[in-house]
Amino acid sequence: MEVIYCPGEHEDPRPGRGALPPRAWTDRTDAKQLRLNGDWRFRLSPTAAVPGGDDFAKAAFDDDSEQWSNLPVPSHWVLHGHGKPAYVNIPYPFPVDPPFVPTENPTGDYRYTFDLPKDWDLNSGKTILRFDGVDSWCKVWVNGTLLGTSSGSRVPVEFVASTALRAGANILAVRVHQWSAGSYLEDQDQWWMPGIFRDVTLLHRPDGSVGDHFVHVSYDHETGAGTLKVDATPSGRVVIPELGIDAPTGTLVSVPHVKPWTAETPRLYAGHLVTTGERVSLSVGFRTVAIEDGVITVNGKRILFRGVNRHEFHPDTGRAVTRETMLQDVLLMKRHNINAVRTSHYPPHPHFLDLCDEYGLWVIDENDYETHGFEQLNWQGNPSSTAVWKDALLDRVGRMVERDKNHPSVIIWSLGNEAGPGENIGHMADWIRRRDPSRLIHYEGDKTCKYVDMYSRMYVTHAEVDALGRRQEDPLDDPELDKKRRAMPFILCEYIHAMGNGPGGQAEYQRLFEKYPRCQGGFVWEWIDHCFKKTTADGREYWAYGGDFDEEIHDGNFIVDGLLFPDRTPSPGLIEYKKVIEPVAITYAGNGQVSIYNNRDFASLDDLIFTYKLERAGRGIAGGPLAVPAVGPRQTVTVPLPALSTTKDEQVWTITAVLAEDTKWGSAGHEVAWGQFAATEAPHRPLAPTLIAPVVDKAAGVVTVGPAEFSIASGQLIKLGQLPVHGLNLDIWRATTDNDRGQEYFEGTCWADVWKEANLDKVKHRVNRVAVDGNTFVVETRAAAGSYNRGLLTTYTWTAVEDNGVHLGVKAVPDGDWGDMVLPRLGVRVGLPTSLDQVSWYGYGPGEAYPDTRTGVKLGVYNLSVDDLQTPYVFPQENGSRIDVRWAELAGLSGGLRVEGAPLFSFAARRWTTEQLQAARHTTDLVPGNQVWLNIDYAVNGIGTASCGEGVLPEHQLRVAETEFSVILRPT
Ligand code: GAL
Repeated sequence: MEVIYCPGEHEDPRPGRGALPPRAWTDRTDAKQLRLNGDWRFRLSPTAAVPGGDDFAKAAFDDDSEQWSNLPVPSHWVLHGHGKPAYVNIPYPFPVDPPFVPTENPTGDYRYTFDLPKDWDLNSGKTILRFDGVDSWCKVWVNGTLLGTSSGSRVPVEFVASTALRAGANILAVRVHQWSAGSYLEDQDQWWMPGIFRDVTLLHRPDGSVGDHFVHVSYDHETGAGTLKVDATPSGRVVIPELGIDAPTGTLVSVPHVKPWTAETPRLYAGHLVTTGERVSLSVGFRTVAIEDGVITVNGKRILFRGVNRHEFHPDTGRAVTRETMLQDVLLMKRHNINAVRTSHYPPHPHFLDLCDEYGLWVIDENDYETHGFEQLNWQGNPSSTAVWKDALLDRVGRMVERDKNHPSVIIWSLGNEAGPGENIGHMADWIRRRDPSRLIHYEGDKTCKYVDMYSRMYVTHAEVDALGRRQEDPLDDPELDKKRRAMPFILCEYIHAMGNGPGGQAEYQRLFEKYPRCQGGFVWEWIDHCFKKTTADGREYWAYGGDFDEEIHDGNFIVDGLLFPDRTPSPGLIEYKKVIEPVAITYAGNGQVSIYNNRDFASLDDLIFTYKLERAGRGIAGGPLAVPAVGPRQTVTVPLPALSTTKDEQVWTITAVLAEDTKWGSAGHEVAWGQFAATEAPHRPLAPTLIAPVVDKAAGVVTVGPAEFSIASGQLIKLGQLPVHGLNLDIWRATTDNDRGQEYFEGTCWADVWKEANLDKVKHRVNRVAVDGNTFVVETRAAAGSYNRGLLTTYTWTAVEDNGVHLGVKAVPDGDWGDMVLPRLGVRVGLPTSLDQVSWYGYGPGEAYPDTRTGVKLGVYNLSVDDLQTPYVFPQENGSRIDVRWAELAGLSGGLRVEGAPLFSFAARRWTTEQLQAARHTTDLVPGNQVWLNIDYAVNGIGTASCGEGVLPEHQLRVAETEFSVILRPT
């Protein structure tokens, strides 16, 4: 047999060939660099066996034929018309047969012609070619000379290119396979998107230039002294003018007084490292990371992570993110009080870490490693426990640590995500411990904490966090490991799953983090929705998710779970998170005083100014600056509020802490924290009935109660003043949220299924009796869903009240067996003319809020259009409810409706029905109909975070029970 083709190299589980040893990454050097980003020539082939073999790499190859086109680098070719992106969460999208991959293996050939700058000296030193990210495997040639191969999509690789290069024009050729052995190590929950997606750079390395350098720092919080030692090859000098340092590399320099680096106070000292051949800029941050008494400390203090998991994502460019986008992420994080990032689940573009150093964010830098698809195979053959993968794993973790070791922001190395257990995990941990003992090691998949420095979990319930806080968790079988783990700090590397409406229950988690020193906070899953724009046949844009690209295997909208919408607009979940994690707690201290607690770990509140505002029934009546004395970290002061005048109305204080001056990340006046509390409670207003009896007109078949007109036959409200009204009925249904559809941590109740099975979306209203009883008009009904014998005996009692109003009392009494059913909502729904398109209300806002997502909203008077009341979740679902509303008015060109709570209600108004909302898959499926549907709710069920995590906490559940509520309706 003569073998003429044997698939190959890219299925080798070992690291690539020909690369230079990894080293610290920097682009701040006086050595020459040439970015090779731009329009490259590109050809896509369906398999790795490309006709013509490697011929395309030859300098003389003709890439002008029609198979070739232009493709920007960096980019993913699937976002430029060559194939499509594909989304899968856990399973591999190809047969699991490691290290082999399918023969159908999209393969991109790239060619780029560039001129070497005239002053580039090829005869001195070396010239290196660096790729910062190629997904997933590449082979590189310069002018037809092979430089090497690389696997590891999100870690850099450098090749020596000197001898292959020549003066003038040069041809760089790269072959990239979408699938490779490395794909088995890169099964993160994200889009599969191949290509050269990060920068390509040519680096001149003059003789005597820095090969590698390692900045070692420490900070002694007791003396305020720092130490600095920069190891470098070759040796040179370290110069930090501000600290008077000019010392040889490799020596430990003590600095008696230095300002430490923390995420709150990101003090960097600029300097440089000089060798005979190069001058590299340094940004030195002095800090010491440790575990003391079972908690993670930085500079001697326990820190609390208010974190997010950040994937690199942009809706136009995928994981090829620009420096502007990276900055935008950092600014958005800082402006929303976020202090920590886990770079899930791979090292980010290195520039992002420069920004974290500069702006101040704690970073868990995570290895580009996940093998989650092996879980469904009981982890059989999993690379973490298979020797053949050891070198590849050490290679990629090494490339991360070497690249990122000089960032003060990086305080924890993570070995990867969801890659099961195994000795290779231990090998990676051992290697890091030897190379960089100054940082801590994390890996959530190490359930026994054999190899790591902290106990990390995801999506743990509040109750379990509470137990963990008390170090009362269930024991491990091995008593030694149990003892070790029980003494460790605890973090939630993922929690509160930001999919769709929610996540609920944030504030309850934060209280646990603040209660138990061991619980050092968490990282929300996740920062941004990963969606791409698509357009309907009639030209309307929508956000596409898994399955929208004809993927055979996909996980639908599970990729739409960010605190930011795909265009980086903050979602209500982020507004809630900003408030829940705010660094100042402002609460009423009693006796006309406000208590101000500095919830920061290091910084005072000197950067903030405080103001107060007093509102009466929603109207501002007083306000001004509030003098607050200096408050150190974790200290409280109490400050008297101005004197109050007595009034019969509800009065509310709002105290706000804003930036006193412009900072790097926010302008003066930016709101950092606030507190709101009652100054005088809302008075109880007794009903003012008119004592006018309902007027019955049997001939016309109607009854009139004040401004309201009813049908005798149906008992239905038909008109309010001149306003036609459609079907005011009890409503217990909502378009299910992702969290309703979730199963409480995969084992509990999926309420959406229970509600569907119970036909709660198909409630019928049988009229039992329509009666006039003295001054009231009474309609007795039984609201019940098909197929079951349970229902709600519902009585609507209507009474005319002063000022042209009608009081509606609703009483709902459970009938039959409801078990322990939770209801989506309990209230009434009414259809109104579409002309009523403007809403104002006095209640909480301006955003939506549910019982367990209501921390971030403020009591006030708000105005929004019906359209702007909607939260445009990518996957349409229940949204837009406003909570604890005192009154709401819907107005339009011709008349309107005012609803007054007796005392409070929630409302939602939309131009489509709940049924249409339930049926929609994309926002463009929602088409306004001929009614505005108004839900006036006594209560709505909480939201929870069961799309991945815990469901609605009992105190936020709407259980079936006898209920009475009332509102007053007035035509306006
Ligand atoms: C975790 C995983 C994340 C993401 C999340 C659910 O298990 O680490 O990558 O899949 O679940 O959205």
